[in-house]
Amino acid sequence: MGRRALRKIDPELDLNNHLRSLDELPDSWRAADWFCRGGPLEIEIGSGKGLFMVSASQLRPAHDFVGVEVSAKYARFAAAKLARCRSENSIMIHGDGLRFLHDWVEDSSILAVHVYFPDPWWKKRHRRRRILNASFLRDVQRVLRTEGRLHFWTDVEEYFRATLDLIGEEPDLVGPYEVEESPAEHDLDYRTHFERRTRIQRAPVYRAEFVKR
Ligand SMILES: C[S@@+](CC[C@H](N)C(=O)[O-])C[C@H]1O[C@@H](n2cnc3c(N)ncnc32)[C@H](O)[C@@H]1O
Repeated sequence: MGRRALRKIDPELDLNNHLRSLDELPDSWRAADWFCRGGPLEIEIGSGKGLFMVSASQLRPAHDFVGVEVSAKYARFAAAKLARCRSENSIMIHGDGLRFLHDWVEDSSILAVHVYFPDPWWKKRHRRRRILNASFLRDVQRVLRTEGRLHFWTDVEEYFRATLDLIGEEPDLVGPYEVEESPAEHDLDYRTHFERRTRIQRAPVYRAEFVKR
């Protein structure tokens, strides 16, 4: 499914507090460098247009949020949304979320990892490009603190089932717990833009949560 062109970002908007590049992160980076109060940290991999980042950071103001997006224009777009609402508890990183988790995130330091509607890579020979692979899941298990959660939603049933099988091999990720669909009370009352689009098309969404033992 194609994606519509993004709205232009106001060139006057200051993104300094809401956008970083993975290539600029010092090896010694810690979340406390950005969020001084050190609230519980949630990470989203593949934030797209940033709907989850905006709504979750408003809904849970005591938590801190890092969104990682590999596409420069989407990372900028999501950061612009955070900047416009003057969010103080969220920031976007432009770069590879798998690399970020593997190389920068400390063991047992994260309250939640969110992955919504990851690119499906339909062709069999491309499936190894999927982000929910064995090594990523080992990192998720490593970085989550006890009782921390992995949230995974997709509209691709085959990806969903294959991922549940992979997660089943991680001894410390307990689940899947089912997540019920909640009615949308307004036009943006969805977890992400892809959830909105899928539900408007009346296609199924597969949702699961796992808890770190
Ligand atoms: C299908 S879109 C879904 C976007 C959003 N999660 C949603 O549900 O609306 C998948 C997003 O993941 C991003 N992505 C793919 N691989 C990534 C990676 N390794 N690290 C960070 N983002 C990635 C893509 O650029 C794209 O924006």
